[in-house]
Amino acid sequence: MPTEPSAVAGDLTIRLRPVREDDLAMFRRFAVEPGLVGLDWAGFRDAAAPARRFAADGFLGEDDSRLMVDAGAAEGAAGFVGYRSGTFGGLGKYWEIGIALLPEWRGQGIGWRAQAMLCDYLFRHTPAQRVQAATHAENLAEQASLKRAGFTLEGVIRAAEFRDGQWRDGQLFSRLRDDRSPL
Ligand SMILES: CC(C)(COP(=O)(O)OP(=O)(O)OC[C@H]1O[C@@H](n2cnc3c(N)ncnc32)[C@H](O)[C@@H]1OP(=O)(O)O)[C@@H](O)C(=O)NCCC(=O)NCCS
Repeated sequence: MPTEPSAVAGDLTIRLRPVREDDLAMFRRFAVEPGLVGLDWAGFRDAAAPARRFAADGFLGEDDSRLMVDAGAAEGAAGFVGYRSGTFGGLGKYWEIGIALLPEWRGQGIGWRAQAMLCDYLFRHTPAQRVQAATHAENLAEQASLKRAGFTLEGVIRAAEFRDGQWRDGQLFSRLRDDRSPL
């Protein structure tokens, strides 16, 4: 029987669900509050863009989507995950995933479970063989979270991103379809 992706962390039941209109306020915050997203802050963004995207496809596109990370709180979701497709050599799509939790929800075991759930979901509903995720050398929380979610560090991508005034290296992780899910 198909079910929504969900996992239990202590007293919290975490589930991934589609974006709703009342989630747009969170996306607007991530667009205009410096540093709320963490090290990925890249300057102010158009705060009206999330509403336009929601109206276009509910953030569920063919090659680029978002789902909310819901921890059952009445005041709203804990954060969101995203996934977009890419290819190596033009054959067979892989997914690259990302995540941002609001600060008050970090460090409670939600991040690794949400990313593990997203991988399970993508392997269940698409034929992709590979899910990858990139992070920064300074982002110890995301590195630990990805390892806990069943990812393996593949290596360093040199000068991968321009952030905070300079080009910086990234770390590339992956989980393959045949890798064990930690959930
Ligand atoms: C990165 C992020 C998703 C991690 O999720 P989280 O719910 O905070 O982390 P978890 O509670 O699932 O912890 C997973 C692991 O990270 C470790 N961890 C959590 N916060 C940490 C921190 N600040 N420093 C070092 N390790 C940390 C935990 O101890 C745990 O490790 P363990 O399995 O060895 O015990 C979350 O902190 C976040 O949204 N940060 C801001 C946005 C961001 O950086 N996104 C990733 C962009 S590349």
